[in-house]
Amino acid sequence: MTNQTTTKRDKLQLGLFMPNCSYSLSFSSYKPDPTDWTYETNLKIALAAEDADFNFLFPVSKWRGYGGKTDALSLSLETFTWASALLSNTKKIKIFSTVHVPVFHPVATAKMGSTLDHISKGRWGLNVVSGWSEREFSMMGIEVIDHKTRYERSKAYIEILKGLWTQEPGTFNYECPWYKITGGDVQPRPVQNPHPTIANAGGSEDAKEMVSKLCDWSFITPPDLEAAKAQVLDIKDRAKKNGRNIFCATPPFVLWRDSESEAFEEKEKILEQMDVEALENWASGLAVQSGSFDKHTLEMYAVGAGGIPMIGTKEQVAEMIREIYDHGMDGLMMVFLDYLQDTVNFKTDISPILEKMGIR
Ligand SMILES: Cc1cc2nc3c(=O)[nH]c(=O)nc-3n(C[C@H](O)[C@H](O)[C@H](O)COP(=O)(O)O)c2cc1C
Repeated sequence: MTNQTTTKRDKLQLGLFMPNCSYSLSFSSYKPDPTDWTYETNLKIALAAEDADFNFLFPVSKWRGYGGKTDALSLSLETFTWASALLSNTKKIKIFSTVHVPVFHPVATAKMGSTLDHISKGRWGLNVVSGWSEREFSMMGIEVIDHKTRYERSKAYIEILKGLWTQEPGTFNYECPWYKITGGDVQPRPVQNPHPTIANAGGSEDAKEMVSKLCDWSFITPPDLEAAKAQVLDIKDRAKKNGRNIFCATPPFVLWRDSESEAFEEKEKILEQMDVEALENWASGLAVQSGSFDKHTLEMYAVGAGGIPMIGTKEQVAEMIREIYDHGMDGLMMVFLDYLQDTVNFKTDISPILEKMGIR
């Protein structure tokens, strides 16, 4: 195995793909704490993550549930208001919100973002997603437009955010088929300079083109470790051609037990109690509307939102984490089965191994 970990490189950024929605991230009724979506538990998880020296927390933005016996994601905490409460109760961890481009006007998003950056003294980040779910958007009368146009609109959206956050108040103008900004004025300015961290979670050609030109982080979901290597290289290469540097992160499903067989038994329990109806509602919508989820199996969605499974003993999991870091991945927003307990255990079980490896 290559040992890029000895070269000078930023340490691995660790975060959580937070359970701010009910039954989110694993479509199964096998769940140690079905109420983990509540604010009270999210705050406990956030504090445990801070105690474990994690770098960031990342939510899911959902407006409606996906049916089935769990009505997956139906109880969901909206991600700007969620971030506001968590940021004011934490001290050092970065917390993202996720905006669906067609739902909030960019001036409103820029204003909310500046506010959150002030509340947190520069610890807020934004994931800009184009929006794929007809199930959610039909409730609002919002049309899911074609993929390419959707990303052109997202590109305009990010350019507007950057203009509003960086140009002299009252001077920013922008016109495109979707927005007309005249004398854009958003004050206070964000604390982060030049602007808060901007990410996009998409893996298609359209998404890669956009992130490499405009985003700080690219959140991707490769189906396995080899694909991760290729995708990271591709995105970083494109950014380099645009004279930019970009960071990549992915959401693995991380599960460890004393023995490998125990860990896989746990995974089997998740699959045995899989919520097939919710899963199909989710996967069919995403398959039609995305340009990057063609290699994911239903099983991958069932155990961790389509993320790479990292299942085994703590040593095996640490080794998989090292491998993906060696493939160029800069960060992981981990999906856990039992978020609070796993966050506490990660600190004692896996962090020391990663520290010994020199990647944390
Ligand atoms: C890490 C990650 C987080 C995402 N978060 C959300 C979200 O909160 N809400 C949402 O509707 N879609 C979310 N998505 C879906 C993406 O916005 C996008 O539709 C999907 O990755 C397909 O990308 P593509 O259009 O480039 O193929 C997320 C995707 C990834 C990889």
